[in-house]
Amino acid sequence: MSADSPQPADRPLYQVTDLTRVFGRDGRVRALDGVSLQVRAGQRLGIVGESGSGKSTLIRLMAALDRPTSGSVTFEGQQISGLREPRLGFLRAAVQLVFQDPRSSLNPRMTVGSIVTEPLRSRHLRGALEPVDAGVRLREVLQAVDLPADAASRYPHEFSGGQRQRIAIARALAPDPRVLIADEPVSALDVSVRAQVLNLLADLVAARGLTLIFVSHDLSVVRHLCDSVVVLRAGRIEEQGPSEQVFAQPSADYTRALIAAIPRLRIG
Ligand SMILES: Nc1ncnc2c1ncn2[C@@H]1O[C@H](COP(=O)(O)OP(=O)(O)O)[C@@H](O)[C@H]1O
Ligand SMILES: [Mg+2]
Repeated sequence: MSADSPQPADRPLYQVTDLTRVFGRDGRVRALDGVSLQVRAGQRLGIVGESGSGKSTLIRLMAALDRPTSGSVTFEGQQISGLREPRLGFLRAAVQLVFQDPRSSLNPRMTVGSIVTEPLRSRHLRGALEPVDAGVRLREVLQAVDLPADAASRYPHEFSGGQRQRIAIARALAPDPRVLIADEPVSALDVSVRAQVLNLLADLVAARGLTLIFVSHDLSVVRHLCDSVVVLRAGRIEEQGPSEQVFAQPSADYTRALIAAIPRLRIG
């Protein structure tokens, strides 16, 4: 390490550098094209952009669920792009995800209790986790997401969409992560329960001091939840900055169009 390397205290949690991911024959689809950004501990970063702009591709790379075509992602100074699963335990323990649709992200044949405690049993995570009593943690996280303790012995189909997303959130909290990445976590839910789930997320992030990376095409939600925002368009960063600034004085026409489209997007 050279003398002018940043000290851990001011080193960003995530450093994304010139990240590119192409798909298809001849790499025709440039899902992500030279994206660089940083995430600090405690930051609540919104990633917005129209459908197909590369939001999910970006967070999949940040969660090491996919490999970049070029560029890199470091977490706490450690390169994660290209690491094999057995070496990713530190990341899996620290960074947990909530996906859009709890119907497809929760195994219908597992009880809620085994779904929620599954990360604790993961061979790769185990070495990276503080020892914890799974039963105690299960009760704690079910309570944190306002589900009854007896939910543990039931199955996902016995719950409503909003409750299922609470189960997914409980599972994400089980390893006591420091970072929560949520990819359109309320977009598949009934409009009537979206606010409840968003408020729950906001409360959990505040109470646990989590770093939040929140993906949404709905800018009104990001404005409410996030202190900073990255606007993606066709795999590139169109604009980024503090939420207040980006919403009050968007510098890009594209951002202005997204903001103007809020009412339409909310019912869409
Ligand atoms: N596994 C894949 N194979 C081929 N193309 C993909 C794949 N994943 C994403 N893409 C393409 O990359 C682009 C960005 O997709 P995505 O990151 O899912 O966007 P968003 O989440 O913003 O809607 C889209 O054109 C999409 O079709
Ligand atoms: Mg997506």
